[in-house]
Amino acid sequence: MDSTPTTYTLALLPGDGIGPEVTAEAERVLDAAAEALGFEITTSEHPVGGAGIDAAGDPLPRATLDACLDADAVFLGAVGGPDWDAVAPDLRPERGLLRLRARLGAFANLRPVAVSDALAERSPLRPERVAGTDLLIVRELTGGIYFGLPRERTATEAYDTMRYTVLEVERIARVAFEWARKRGGRVTSVDKANVLASSALWRDVVARVGADEFPDVALEHLYVDHAAMEVVCDPRRFDVVVTGNLFGDVLSDLAATLPGTLGLLPSASLGGRTGLFEPVHGSAPDLAGRDAANPLAAILSAAMLLDSLGEADAATAVRQSVDAVVADGPHTADLGGTASTTDVGGAVADGIALLTLT
Ligand SMILES: NC(=O)c1ccc[n+]([C@@H]2O[C@H](COP(=O)([O-])OP(=O)(O)OC[C@H]3O[C@@H](n4cnc5c(N)ncnc54)[C@H](O)[C@@H]3O)[C@@H](O)[C@H]2O)c1
Repeated sequence: MDSTPTTYTLALLPGDGIGPEVTAEAERVLDAAAEALGFEITTSEHPVGGAGIDAAGDPLPRATLDACLDADAVFLGAVGGPDWDAVAPDLRPERGLLRLRARLGAFANLRPVAVSDALAERSPLRPERVAGTDLLIVRELTGGIYFGLPRERTATEAYDTMRYTVLEVERIARVAFEWARKRGGRVTSVDKANVLASSALWRDVVARVGADEFPDVALEHLYVDHAAMEVVCDPRRFDVVVTGNLFGDVLSDLAATLPGTLGLLPSASLGGRTGLFEPVHGSAPDLAGRDAANPLAAILSAAMLLDSLGEADAATAVRQSVDAVVADGPHTADLGGTASTTDVGGAVADGIALLTLT
């Protein structure tokens, strides 16, 4: 029998601001998980965003894109910052990220939001209302009103086009139903089917996919205005939420406020051969270079990356170690502590080694 450990290739794109600081901690935790669970990760590092502009005059340099397309997974820290505010719109750091998502064919953006008892006190909502929240927003990322044509602005009017095809809705619906099967068995589909034709199609297609292919998953439909109210009033009622690009953008940022810090929220963008994993937060120029950012969002994104590689035990070990750090510290300032980025990353990495020894 071949005893060579499985080796995965990972393209690391640290980016700008706190991106390199939190990426270093995610890499350290990935190394600890690989060591503990007996596989290998080979990483290569590439500039993106402002770092790409500085290195190659492009927020997504060709060599960076090629490395991403060749890798088993891509990890990105964050892009953007005041140093690049004056560049032309097409050259902005964020453009690099949008182009990368498009080139990877990443049509499904996954954002889990969980609020443990330990975190509930920091939520802007009342703790008893938010403690125990555990939801996953599945946002369609490459269609809808952000990409629909025609789109025009003249001196006297402007319009955009919200367009969805049956195929686009079917494939995102399947992603949501499959995740519901692995989680709580419930999908909430969010639309505005009482007003928008694209939403009426969305609702019909999601209902058909659910009935034909996932009869074991409970499905409800909510209008987006009602869904927004429920995210604030009763976030625990949700398991998997599936929605289009525009509604998902707004709802996922609304849900991101529930834990009281951006420093805990991971994301994955999936669809093509290679997935992209990144914390939800930006480059936080106010924290950059101070070893003060919370690396847990990046580390939880690394856990999603391990899941996508099929290393479920490693992903679970990372999450358990993060849970222990959230409950008992060390904590960075956003969680009320005084620990540094590296302290927190080190604690999670040490926790994995301990967990897998016991
Ligand atoms: N995916 C991305 O790369 C991404 C996402 C959002 C914003 N941005 C870019 O980041 C730059 C800054 O944007 P912003 O200030 O609106 O958003 P931001 O997410 O960088 O910061 C918002 C607030 O959250 C805090 N914060 C963010 N991450 C944190 C962490 N890990 N630990 C503790 N606190 C954290 C920051 O200190 C700040 O107060 C801009 O250039 C923006 O375009 C990039």
